[in-house]
Amino acid sequence: MVELRENEQKTLLTLQKLNGKANVAQILQVSGLAHAAIMRATLTLAEKKLVTVHEEKQKAVELNDEGKQHAQRGLPERRLINALIELGGEAPTEKVVEKAQLDRKFVTIALGWLHRKGWATLEQKRTLRTKQPMPPQGADEQLLSFLKEKGSATFEELSKEMQDAVSILKGRQLLEVEEKTVRELVLDKAGWQLVKKGFEIVQEISQLTPELIVSGKWREVKLRKFDVSAAGREFYPAKIHPLQQVIQKAREIFLEMGFTEIRGPFVETAFWNFDALFQPQDHPAREMMDTFYLANPKTGGLPKKSVVEAVAKTHENGWTTGSKGWGYKWSPEEAQRLVMRTHTTAETIKYLSMHKKPPIKVFSVDRVYRNEQVTYKNTAEFHQIEGIVVDEGVTLRDLMGTLKAFYSKFGLKRVKFWPCYFPYTEPSAQATVYVPKLKRWIELGGMGMFRPEVLAPMGIKYPVLAWGGGLERIAMLELNLDDIRMLYGNRLSWIRRTPLCQ
Ligand code: PHE
Repeated sequence: MVELRENEQKTLLTLQKLNGKANVAQILQVSGLAHAAIMRATLTLAEKKLVTVHEEKQKAVELNDEGKQHAQRGLPERRLINALIELGGEAPTEKVVEKAQLDRKFVTIALGWLHRKGWATLEQKRTLRTKQPMPPQGADEQLLSFLKEKGSATFEELSKEMQDAVSILKGRQLLEVEEKTVRELVLDKAGWQLVKKGFEIVQEISQLTPELIVSGKWREVKLRKFDVSAAGREFYPAKIHPLQQVIQKAREIFLEMGFTEIRGPFVETAFWNFDALFQPQDHPAREMMDTFYLANPKTGGLPKKSVVEAVAKTHENGWTTGSKGWGYKWSPEEAQRLVMRTHTTAETIKYLSMHKKPPIKVFSVDRVYRNEQVTYKNTAEFHQIEGIVVDEGVTLRDLMGTLKAFYSKFGLKRVKFWPCYFPYTEPSAQATVYVPKLKRWIELGGMGMFRPEVLAPMGIKYPVLAWGGGLERIAMLELNLDDIRMLYGNRLSWIRRTPLCQ
């Protein structure tokens, strides 16, 4: 005698009612059982050879948020044509839009489709005119309302016209097409025999209540057995974004190493972003192509006069630093211009202008902006890791050791240093790390000791070790990504898939 649980019995009986063949959605409708309960029952029934399960991959379509919005209120062009006809078939565009209560962002799209569908003409870019009576519902609209009712549908459930309209709505980014596994259950011979014989459905208790225990009834009822091998329900608790997790990890590493965090504003004056770092005012990095300048407000305040003057003189002739400077006339206006900071070194130098006494160990892990084309390896906003150490007698060796320790905490054990150039450090170097996963060396950032031309105007009398580099590269390594845009795209499936701990 096969022993079955309540839900398995119900599934079998439903299957019998449906002539021995049905998919999970149909069983769900007829039996009223939950999806997960049917899936679990199916597994057992198949194991006991009472049913056979056929799996088939089917394409299914589902409206996204914007699609649902249009399904509710009508496609934007439909709303315009409705309004236009109500206004007598001819009216200024503005008026039609207003009457249709159409959101600004849909206007261009709606006008485009009015034209494409031949519903109306736009004359002199201002007047909308339509000749015809109300155009009938198109296949795209049929599909929209069909999906509004059903939530999602497989291709097979759609009429030929609606199937054709899928690509139109997909192109308009109103729906998603996904592969869905459809499971069909077929009652086997043994299954038929069993249901024909009939069985009494014994209600199972899945919750042991205090009443059952106190009254002693628990002895009589049939308790549902736990299936400890059953797959759990998928569960997506709130969690910290993967990029934010890497940022936190970088912060924790710095804190472990005895650094203190500093933060500054995203918008800085060119003074702190460039001038204080001895970058000449005609330096190519300052060009619009590389740097975002603010249009409004355009300028910000400079620090106290003595600091500004010292910076000006250092640029012009080297001031007391022994350097010759850059030999040009320094402009305070240029220094006042507001920029989206291009590096967090703007914050470390600003910090140093106010804290001159060693020992100092501060860091920042924060956002910076550069006017870059967005590609798989670049974004216009990203994060930098930045740190400085100020102490008597520190040298480049200390800097190299600090960086080695830092990267090794990220699992990057082999670090090499190459000489390179920055206007504000001397000597300057670049850190390259070996990534075993990729089997190659990659560049992770710049470093060096601040030059006298940077230190003297700020009144700093001790050596300063400084370094900074991109965080996203490390994040991509940690998260196994080959496209940086994934970090900013908010793709839910990826965010959900990415584990909280590696
Ligand atoms: N600011 C440099 C960059 O953005 C990195 C750097 C920081 C270099 C500190 C030297 C010292 O690439």
